[in-house]
Amino acid sequence: MFNLGSVGMERGLLYETVITTKNPDNTPNAAPIGVICKDIDEVVIHLHVGSRTVENIKNNKVFIVNITKDPLIFVESTLRNPASDYFIRYNDNFYIKNAEAFFKAEVTRCREVEKKDQFGVSKTTIVNAHVEDIVKNQEHVEPLNRAIYGIIEALVYLTRMDMVSGDTEKLYRLRIREISRIVNKVGGYNHKKAMKMILEDFSKYQ
Ligand SMILES: Cc1cc2nc3c(=O)[nH]c(=O)nc-3n(C[C@H](O)[C@H](O)[C@H](O)COP(=O)(O)O)c2cc1C
Repeated sequence: MFNLGSVGMERGLLYETVITTKNPDNTPNAAPIGVICKDIDEVVIHLHVGSRTVENIKNNKVFIVNITKDPLIFVESTLRNPASDYFIRYNDNFYIKNAEAFFKAEVTRCREVEKKDQFGVSKTTIVNAHVEDIVKNQEHVEPLNRAIYGIIEALVYLTRMDMVSGDTEKLYRLRIREISRIVNKVGGYNHKKAMKMILEDFSKYQ
């Protein structure tokens, strides 16, 4: 059995990854997607309508999760598709060449739901998948989780609150609220505890 702990993933946290899938014409596709570590060998992804990724996953019932912190991979796979030499064939799939690690996930459940959030109502496909293979390209693998960055940003705003006023102060309040939303969505127990402490201290500025 494969264990996501071997690539630094903890149960309950959401990691920003790049998912590679195969298009109907057998070419590779890459897109940044948040992957929730549901269990040591199970992940869940939430896919908005209209992406190639969701279509490919529905068709193929399999996808590759690439763990990387390469900024250009994230940008290129968002704005267009990375050049073909970024991809390496892996059996019937593709992974990203410089990924710290990657794993194959096989779809076990796929359901469409209507999701209501601050962006409005949208159709989302929720995919559960079983981890089949894990390949590490380096000893120490650190998947990308946004919570720590949010906490650091929020702390910076907090320590500047005495120095700002007017529109800047308003902006900082909005940002701290948004960061709190993200940390509670993607983080673990200690991230949420840290964010709660920041909000408690921040309340002296209300
Ligand atoms: C960091 C990051 C995380 C993202 N997470 C998701 C996600 O969880 N689900 C989703 O549907 N789109 C997500 N997106 C948006 C898709 O990556 C984006 O729509 C992409 O262009 C889809 O490409 P595709 O059509 O090649 O699949 C994310 C984007 C970024 C930058």
